[in-house]
Amino acid sequence: MAKLTVSTASRLSPFLHGLWVAALVACLSPLAAKGAGGASASGPDPLAGPPDSRPVAPDLDSQVILITGSTGGLGREVALELAGRGAHIIVHGRNEERGMEVVEEIRSEGIGSATFHPADLASFEEVRAFGETILREYDRLDVLVNNAGIWLDAEERVLSEDGHELHFQVNYLSTFLLTRMLLPLLEASAPARIVNVASVAQTPLDFDDLSMEAGYSDSRAYAQSKLAQVLFTYDLAEELEGTGISVNALHPATMMDTGMVLSRGAEPRSSVDEGREAVVHLVTAPDTGSGRYFNGTQPAEADPQAYDAGARETLRRMSAEFTGL
Ligand SMILES: NC(=O)c1ccc[n+]([C@@H]2O[C@H](COP(=O)([O-])OP(=O)(O)OC[C@H]3O[C@@H](n4cnc5c(N)ncnc54)[C@H](OP(=O)(O)O)[C@@H]3O)[C@@H](O)[C@H]2O)c1
Repeated sequence: MAKLTVSTASRLSPFLHGLWVAALVACLSPLAAKGAGGASASGPDPLAGPPDSRPVAPDLDSQVILITGSTGGLGREVALELAGRGAHIIVHGRNEERGMEVVEEIRSEGIGSATFHPADLASFEEVRAFGETILREYDRLDVLVNNAGIWLDAEERVLSEDGHELHFQVNYLSTFLLTRMLLPLLEASAPARIVNVASVAQTPLDFDDLSMEAGYSDSRAYAQSKLAQVLFTYDLAEELEGTGISVNALHPATMMDTGMVLSRGAEPRSSVDEGREAVVHLVTAPDTGSGRYFNGTQPAEADPQAYDAGARETLRRMSAEFTGL
């Protein structure tokens, strides 16, 4: 596939784009006022331009947004919403049929565009190949939404082919690896954003037993992997200060009506619409900052371990070792 190219102006984040529009409108106001007062006798002021020549309201036109796990559930809804605002969506997941359905739906709407790239996050080899494909085929990446996740309904611990507890690898380690691989592309596209879809379910990491040989439960493993995402978010935000890349994490909504919840036979407590709104807020709102954790659209406190610089450093070191970075 040919590399996607874009203009510099369209690389502006909605926030900077908004500022740019405001500044431009402010600059133009005196001219417009002058034109309104002084042009009537001698015809239109040539500096004023046609009335509809101002930049359009901020939208996602030409932005490239990668959403992991967008073949279904929350990721799919976020993909459709952002494509509806003009973005190019890199749809990701394992299931090609469902991935292509999302791509076709986006194409049929005729606003944004989409491509599908499969990769199993349970395999570092597949994540590396996926990251290399994105670096090779795209010349910009404005937003990375790390959304793919699992919450197994399994009493027995499951290990990945790389030897890690499966929640820890799919939900966190592969996010760490993919994100770090894509940082140069995000930085070249700055201002850019990383949004980590974590959860309010958070259990402190036991660095002596990250693969949970002792005390495994699917809920504990899920919550450990989700807190790891938050530690990673805070750590990366510090590292990326001044690069123009922001990184935030969120709990999208509680027990949404997605496959993750429904497949366990659990009763949903919120709709995927609520979660979609929260993720889209972090992708598009102008005032989200960086290095923050949100519950829905509101800033919130994470588990205390997330504020422990030593724990974050340990996780960073071990994650780099595990993923071979
Ligand atoms: N549901 C909730 O109430 C809730 C609450 C808090 C946080 N969250 C978080 O929100 C995110 C989305 O959850 P959801 O409810 O939308 O889940 P979901 O309906 O189960 O969808 C999960 C997505 O992740 C992909 N995925 C799963 N395993 C993968 C793997 N090994 N490799 C690549 N892709 C994989 C799936 O695609 P394929 O099947 O095609 O691989 C699917 O697109 C997750 O991170 C979850 O932890 C959800």
